Amino acid sequence: MGDNYDGSFDITTLGDGGGDESSEMARDIKSGLLSEPKDISPWPKYLYDDEGSRLFEEITGLPEYYQTRTEFSILEERAAEIIKRSGCREIVELGSGSSTKTRALLEAMLEASGGDGARYSPLDVSEGILKESGEKLDEEYADLDVHGYVGDFDGSLGQVFDDRDGRDDDEAGSRLVLFLGGTIGNFTPEKRGEFLREIRSGLASGDHVLVGLDLVKDKNTLEAAYDDSAGVTAKFNKNVLKVLNDKLGADFDPSLFEHRATYNEEMERIEMWLDSHVSQTINVSGLDVRFEAGEGMRTEMSHKFTEKSVRRTFEGAGLELTELYTDERSLFGLALAGL
Ligand code: AVJ
Repeated sequence: MGDNYDGSFDITTLGDGGGDESSEMARDIKSGLLSEPKDISPWPKYLYDDEGSRLFEEITGLPEYYQTRTEFSILEERAAEIIKRSGCREIVELGSGSSTKTRALLEAMLEASGGDGARYSPLDVSEGILKESGEKLDEEYADLDVHGYVGDFDGSLGQVFDDRDGRDDDEAGSRLVLFLGGTIGNFTPEKRGEFLREIRSGLASGDHVLVGLDLVKDKNTLEAAYDDSAGVTAKFNKNVLKVLNDKLGADFDPSLFEHRATYNEEMERIEMWLDSHVSQTINVSGLDVRFEAGEGMRTEMSHKFTEKSVRRTFEGAGLELTELYTDERSLFGLALAGL
């Protein structure tokens, strides 16, 4: 460390626990199609094959979809303050993608550390994206030590948290764990609690977590964000049928389904559905699934939060809300919490 410190970059691939992916998927989807109403929303990851990820990227740039740019602007505006309050010398990011939104925080952390070494530990399922963005960050920020992890959230969080790289706690400094994008809203309340508790158990005293959450607002704004006029969200939703056809040998005809997004005010969540135009029977990995005309299948839930529900959610997981940062229109929130 010290004056001549030079950042380094490496990647660790985490074990996947040895599960067979396509049989796990068949089990999840079949159980979802056997429930009443049909519901595959507990497994949002199946929306994101290559095409689904590409369509989601497209969604983030749509005029109706305020979330991504609002979160970005809160980060730009509040980065120095967030870093100061967290006192971190390491940022661990869960689902880092291209790390675009993280840069403001990385720069603020480097500034605060005064060239004394700071570490960025992104975790993502895509090794390609990790390599590309990790190398770029390593080149751009000489004082940043970048250590990427290839893995998913199911089972590999503990391995990332345990890796303090042989440094004692003093040297490592405290950590800020990031979970951006509002992805936590796609989890069921049960999964959300489990996930936060898993993060909590990885925190040491002085560490913090920063979570992006979409906020409750008027129904029209919310429904427009999930039913855009260019039809990109409809394509994103219907793409899951192609995923099921490709991966499970199902025989869905996407043209026989219609995209629907409704805000459930009581449950404070957007629900995406695919409604069948006709009565039909679909074969999914040997299971015959009957759809009546007009019958829907829920494909995604996206929960919206208030300051109260954020506080309750964190408290339920043993975390204390330090601050809920938001934009001037209170569209989106970044919750900073600690032990
Ligand atoms: C992955 C949480 C950012 O719930 O808003 C966007 C996914 N679904 N349009 C969200 C999504 C439909 C999204 N996030």
